[in-house]
Amino acid sequence: MRALDIISKKRDKLELSKDEITFLIDGYTRDEIPDYQMAAWAMAVLLNGMTHEETAHLTNAMANSGDVLNLAELNSIIVDKHSTGGVGDKTTLSIAPIVAACGLAVGKMSGRGLGYSGGTIDKLESIPGYQAELSTKEFISQLKDIGIVLAGQSLDLAPADGKLYALRDVTGTVPSIPLIASSIMSKKIAAGAEAIVLDVKVGEGAFMKTFEDARELAKVMVNIGKLSNRRVIALLSPMDQPLGMAVGNALELKEAVLTLRGKGPEDYHEHCLNIASYMLLLGKKANSLEEARIMAQKSINDGTAFEKFRQFVAAQGGDLACIDNLDLLAKAENILEITAESSGYIAEVNAQDVGEASVILGGGRTKKGDLIDPAVGVMVYVKIGDYVEKGQKVFDVHYNKAELVQNAIDKLKESIKFSEQPVQPPPPNLGVIGM
Ligand code: URA
Repeated sequence: MRALDIISKKRDKLELSKDEITFLIDGYTRDEIPDYQMAAWAMAVLLNGMTHEETAHLTNAMANSGDVLNLAELNSIIVDKHSTGGVGDKTTLSIAPIVAACGLAVGKMSGRGLGYSGGTIDKLESIPGYQAELSTKEFISQLKDIGIVLAGQSLDLAPADGKLYALRDVTGTVPSIPLIASSIMSKKIAAGAEAIVLDVKVGEGAFMKTFEDARELAKVMVNIGKLSNRRVIALLSPMDQPLGMAVGNALELKEAVLTLRGKGPEDYHEHCLNIASYMLLLGKKANSLEEARIMAQKSINDGTAFEKFRQFVAAQGGDLACIDNLDLLAKAENILEITAESSGYIAEVNAQDVGEASVILGGGRTKKGDLIDPAVGVMVYVKIGDYVEKGQKVFDVHYNKAELVQNAIDKLKESIKFSEQPVQPPPPNLGVIGM
């Protein structure tokens, strides 16, 4: 077999076999196939697409390119969730302890921020001492002991995806639905998940800007699950405005912990209950969504979800004092209030603009390796559809560097649009695929 023939076949819109795809991925992982051939192939896939079968073969070849965790000894169904990313999306921080407190093991490998969209590991690292880099042995042993582990990308899972993703990033081949779907699903399958809940975001602050693209991505991932013997469902949820109120690492961590104590913002609390319920249903802990939702809410009410979060933070070296007293988390030196410039109904709080404002303040990276400031970010006090009076507070900007703040203020002012007419708030959910 030759890489050249496989590239030419995809260029000519022909379907690749399992053996051809496996040959390509194995050769690339072992550095036997060079970047330029892989880039040409990725571009042919972007232009000509892949069938569901090809996409499933690609997923499995990448999942098998490194360690594949065998978690059978845990005697628990392993459930995972994945969000395609957004602004203020700190869901993993709340739902992992909720689901673990209900008796399902949650072992997750999470990422760092990407552009204006935040990352779970950056948020967790605002807890002093928190250790995200775990070995496979540590990951499994913590999962066995306390039923919850959130690690960074330190495990040798799906290395072919790591290499291919970096190549796609610099060759204009990221926005291909089969490549995105196989990239996400290969990591989930390698991490041992039997049941997976996907939260596919759609809107201004999301990777997928249109409902049609989001639905197609969801369908492809659910199909990969079917062809790989995994139970998978995908929820479509809006990301036109930030989720919850907090955007920024320590601010989001604080909001996630407050939610575990029953004091979170309504939209975020509701979203967490929704995702957790689907995880409990897919993980066979509940017989219906209603039953799952009651279990999830009970774990908040009786404090077991918060206690699970404490156990997990302690197991990964984090300072519990900061969790018990959230005022001890990093705080910005200055807080500046932004008020409404006119009265009216909120028609838009552009999530991408708010995410970018947080990055400008130092809450995200503009290039690889940038240090982030955990304390900075934005608190958002309005939602689409709210009526506000001129002069009413709409944002708090938490900042440390005065020279950065004006650009962030400009972004935030740009993010918000008013209407004289009442505006319908977006629905919390846009659909479910795979049920
Ligand atoms: N997230 C991933 O893990 N892979 C992609 O290709 C895009 C988003």
